[in-house]
Amino acid sequence: MAACRSTFSSQSQYRETLVTQHTAKPAQTPDTADDNAPFTREGVPRALWWDRSAAVLRLLDQTLLPDRCEVITCTDAATVAEAIRVLRVRGAPAIGVAAAYGLALGARDTLPASVESDAEAMLARRDEITAINAEAVMVRLSEIAALLRATRPTAVNLSWALDRLLAVAVRHLGAGNDVAGLPAQLLGEAHAIAAEDAAACRAMGELGATLISDGDTLLTHCNAGALATGGIGTALAPIFVAHQSGKQVHVFVDETRPLLQGARLTAWELQRAGVPLTLITDSMAAHFLRRANIRAVFVGADRIAANGDVANKIGTYGVAVLAHEHDVPLYVVAPRSTIDLSLPDGERIPIEQRATDEVTSVRGTPLAPVGVHVANPAFDVTPARYVVAIITEAGIARPPFTASLAKLFAS
Ligand code: MRU
Repeated sequence: MAACRSTFSSQSQYRETLVTQHTAKPAQTPDTADDNAPFTREGVPRALWWDRSAAVLRLLDQTLLPDRCEVITCTDAATVAEAIRVLRVRGAPAIGVAAAYGLALGARDTLPASVESDAEAMLARRDEITAINAEAVMVRLSEIAALLRATRPTAVNLSWALDRLLAVAVRHLGAGNDVAGLPAQLLGEAHAIAAEDAAACRAMGELGATLISDGDTLLTHCNAGALATGGIGTALAPIFVAHQSGKQVHVFVDETRPLLQGARLTAWELQRAGVPLTLITDSMAAHFLRRANIRAVFVGADRIAANGDVANKIGTYGVAVLAHEHDVPLYVVAPRSTIDLSLPDGERIPIEQRATDEVTSVRGTPLAPVGVHVANPAFDVTPARYVVAIITEAGIARPPFTASLAKLFAS
């Protein structure tokens, strides 16, 4: 059962502490969620949300889960960038939403203090504000976008969201509008991205659930649930929808070394939702794909090339090859914001290389000899031939993907 205490330690800092006991079937969070709680009224965790009253971004710090549930406050772009870099917020769609809010916060900082929130002060200082050169604001915005963009190179949702906001800025300023109105425009676009992602998750869940039968055993890798998105998830969404519709499902969850997103986050999310699961180490996947009558593998994606090659959490490629060997279909669940038609194939997808201590230690406890040579690519690329279908909010794409993915963008 999960208990949640909440206190406002100051106006700008909201903290939640969660004490998790590893019981077999946890109760849902009671229907007490307020606008600032890290759970929806249905008990679904929220990776991030905009706090309208304080006009700040709140993030559930995923580096601490499942032991502690702490909400951090982002009042500027640099804090958002740091949160993305160290994986306080993670998962391709959630990174995109966070970056959008980060740029909106950054735009606010390009204007004189209090302009954005105080209408009277804004009026009094209108001349000063108008004098700010629109070109200088665009330069500053591009610098902030570059800071956010550099945090994680593989998840294309990040660049996609930033480019959407930059296009809004260009349109707004290009039309001769006052720079003072820019933060509100960008915030509106960030809200739109967040809302679209939540709707996409729901749609992917409904579509993907049609591929799940009552009694199915499934396997997933990494975390592609609510914590990774602005909604109920990508790869986990069909599982949640199938479970809620009364289908009996059982999910094998790869722990997902090095950072254990499967063990820490997916196991926590499924357990909270009451979905039966078995947590396994990554090296057990072959054994269970052979022995456990697994009917399908569901994974998310960080970037999908035009030909259907899929970049996802390191280890996905191995799972895909194993699934293929055992005639188990591999389904990739991702919104169209994860599809990058500008890249013909997965060879061109940039692979993020992360710090070596993520491999040599687990949560600060060293495992390996000091000085050992280490590799730590955060993602791998699964060739399209191992992917049976790509489930998006706009439909299910099947091979040949070059045609079917392009068609998803035609409407
Ligand atoms: O390094 P992470 O935790 O951000 O990696 C996340 C994944 O690989 C997910 O599978 C992917 O982003 C899809 S999340 C809906």
